[in-house]
Amino acid sequence: MTPTDVAAVVRAPVTESAHRRTARPRRYLMTPPEYFTVEYSINPWMDTSAPVDTGRAMDQWRALRRTYTELGHSVDLVDPVPGLPDMVYAANGGLIVNGKAVVARFTHAERRGESVAYAEWMAGHGYPAAETRHVNEGQGDLLVVGPVILAGYGFRTDRRAHEEIAEHVGMPVVGLELVDPRFYHLDTALAVLDDNTIAYYPPAFTEHSRATLSRLFPDAIEVASGDAYVLGLNVVSDGLNVVLPSAATGFAEQLRQAGFRPVGVDLSELLKGGGSVKCCTLEVHP
Ligand code: ARG
Repeated sequence: MTPTDVAAVVRAPVTESAHRRTARPRRYLMTPPEYFTVEYSINPWMDTSAPVDTGRAMDQWRALRRTYTELGHSVDLVDPVPGLPDMVYAANGGLIVNGKAVVARFTHAERRGESVAYAEWMAGHGYPAAETRHVNEGQGDLLVVGPVILAGYGFRTDRRAHEEIAEHVGMPVVGLELVDPRFYHLDTALAVLDDNTIAYYPPAFTEHSRATLSRLFPDAIEVASGDAYVLGLNVVSDGLNVVLPSAATGFAEQLRQAGFRPVGVDLSELLKGGGSVKCCTLEVHP
């Protein structure tokens, strides 16, 4: 698909008024942070000398799960595995879309064991998972926006995996290059709000990728650094309700203006591992 074709696909469903938002029930996959710690550092947020309260992480994670069920969504659980402290960041487990699944191939040895658990869940739920030859960190870097997948690269997911994924799931993939190590996964710098609306933090991308984003999403919400630096873009939206880190107050106001309903949650303990709402949530796309 040429970039012009992709632009046409992304824009096609935009007919309704920007302020008439509707929620669609979703299915999410989550893993409790039972074994969550920060015992190694693979991104700039992870400070191994800072104390982590696993009990508090569990409480915050339970509140997130409850938020989803109260909004009418279903949540499936993967059993956590001792010795895999980052497993709580379920978004990285893979990508399930269009009836197809791809399991993660992690960059860092510390996380590689997680793929086994996520692949098992997928196989047991009717989504036998394909593997990629190149590194892909699942929905950390692969975000579904309607008929298209936005795919980050530069820190984790290998650009060469994009084509493998496009071929396997049968959807066009648009590559976006990340430049700031604080925003090492696409879902730390870009939020999908509905099938044709996104928000993002421009300084996290190369100039070329910023141009791609403004061409594909001329109405995108641009988020300020204060919100980006609390991982305010790491959100989960059902098309109306946007569950986001409560510290991202500026972004919450922008969402309200745009007709969305911000739902703030506190995941401060999980921020110590470099993740927030979206990182803890793998959406099982229909
Ligand atoms: N400590 C994890 C890592 O660096 C955090 C992953 C966050 N997940 C995400 N989808 N951004 O890999």
